[in-house]
Amino acid sequence: MSGSDIGIKVENLTKIFGHGDNEVRVLEGASFEVKKGEFAALVAPSGAGKTTLLMMIGCVIKPTAGKIWLGEELVWDEDRWVIDDVRKIRREKIGFIFQAHYLIPFLTVFENVTLVPQTIGWSKERYEKKAMELLEYFDIADKRDFLPSQLSGGQNQRVAIARALANEPQIILADEPTAALDMERAVNVVKMLKKITVEQNVAIIMVTHDERMLPYCDKILSIEHRKVVTKDPKEIKIV
Ligand SMILES: Nc1ncnc2c1ncn2[C@@H]1O[C@H](COP(=O)(O)OP(=O)(O)OP(=O)(O)O)[C@@H](O)[C@H]1O
Ligand SMILES: [Mg+2]
Repeated sequence: MSGSDIGIKVENLTKIFGHGDNEVRVLEGASFEVKKGEFAALVAPSGAGKTTLLMMIGCVIKPTAGKIWLGEELVWDEDRWVIDDVRKIRREKIGFIFQAHYLIPFLTVFENVTLVPQTIGWSKERYEKKAMELLEYFDIADKRDFLPSQLSGGQNQRVAIARALANEPQIILADEPTAALDMERAVNVVKMLKKITVEQNVAIIMVTHDERMLPYCDKILSIEHRKVVTKDPKEIKIV
């Protein structure tokens, strides 16, 4: 495999929270890779470290040791960020869909979705077109001028997904993006993620507890004994 195929690469990643009696060992020497154009599911029991892993890959929290590459770029090397501007990487390269979606409460749906593309200097025409495409796909275009508090939980979640995709990120990190959705909408979201993976050559890691979503994924990452095990979707059983 050539280096240019790497979407996300993690080598010997370790994360330990706290010290002494409060120590929590989450990962110890985890290694795996998600290529560009690959859609990976992350499955593991509650508390196994799925969110922690996504936060480290997303340059939100610091690993204890190990290496992380995003694309060809080494971003974390054992004890430090290698990149100058962690926030810039987050805004330009990564689309986050968090468990709690953190839409900005005083901005409308449309303003929430277009905020990052505006910040990174997209033209008005480009960010408006992209935002409306996404809002229409997720069936929330009629809510564009509503505030998050005026939407249902599922509608908020779809706005959060639209927002994560609005800057056409190279890497998408999604923490149970379909949890608050009915089956039909959940499948639509996963199909959209799959489509983006292929069309835009994106690397995606999606945490899910729903095995009905696995057929859309190319590989399964599972956290077992504080390491990441890579599996084929055809052979997985959800714990
Ligand atoms: N800031 C923190 N300080 C101390 N311990 C933490 C911190 N964040 C997470 N942990 C611990 O790390 C472990 C992994 O947590 P994490 O949130 O990554 O699990 P998860 O796999 O995402 O679980 P869930 O499926 O419930 O979302 C847990 O034992 C948790 O208590
Ligand atoms: Mg979690």
